[in-house]
Amino acid sequence: MEINLKNVWHSYDGSTFVLRNIDLLFRNSGVYLIVGPNGSGKTTLLKITSLIIKPSRGENIINGKSFWSLDERERENLRSNIIYVHDKPILVRGNVRHNLELGMKLKKKRDRTLIEYYIDRYKLRDLERKSANKLSAGQAKVITLIRALSLKPEVLILDEPFTFLDSQRSEMLIEDIEDIVEKEKGLVIIATHYMYKELKEISTQQIEIINGEIQRTQQ
Ligand SMILES: Nc1ncnc2c1ncn2[C@@H]1O[C@H](COP(=O)(O)OP(=O)(O)OP(=O)(O)O)[C@@H](O)[C@H]1O
Ligand SMILES: [Mg+2]
Repeated sequence: MEINLKNVWHSYDGSTFVLRNIDLLFRNSGVYLIVGPNGSGKTTLLKITSLIIKPSRGENIINGKSFWSLDERERENLRSNIIYVHDKPILVRGNVRHNLELGMKLKKKRDRTLIEYYIDRYKLRDLERKSANKLSAGQAKVITLIRALSLKPEVLILDEPFTFLDSQRSEMLIEDIEDIVEKEKGLVIIATHYMYKELKEISTQQIEIINGEIQRTQQ
């Protein structure tokens, strides 16, 4: 899936622009890193890229089609290929297993193989029956991440995925991101304050955003 933001501007209140004149091309496959200080517009940019927020101005061209001009059915179709994982872990009432399966239910997928794989890989077997509201911050975060990974989306958009994660799990997540791109030819877009060496090594492009504008991009 190719995502092309063209002259995108965004304002939440109709007067101050928190994103200005954004032109970005996310090609079919690769790892794109978005960096920049607090409040610079990373989350807003990710939500626009994920098709959650309609930008105040400009276009989001998905596979050559201007997304916000499409009819609702076509929009839903394209949206279903993109998963956005919030910076703060969002879980529903119920146990961990229920939360992991929720993604599958919403996407109408049946194959649980990847859920099992990631539960073992991230050593979460003991937590399966634990209530979601009794998890530590890092435990909750890793659950939301593997819920997304298990769905194997074409496009995975991660907002501060390493916040709350210990170093071992951060390393594992970087390996998994690499696999998505190398093996599945997926597209992964990440906003992060943590610039790990391993992450930099696998990145296609780094995009620095300051005060709502792209400061520089680096291949
Ligand atoms: N829902 C909202 N309503 C109004 N203003 C908002 C909203 N969300 C974000 N903003 C404002 O937009 C600007 C950009 O915020 P955004 O969350 O995109 O930054 P960020 O780069 O992700 O920051 P952080 O590194 O802290 O996550 C900030 O000035 C913020 O106050
Ligand atoms: Mg943010």
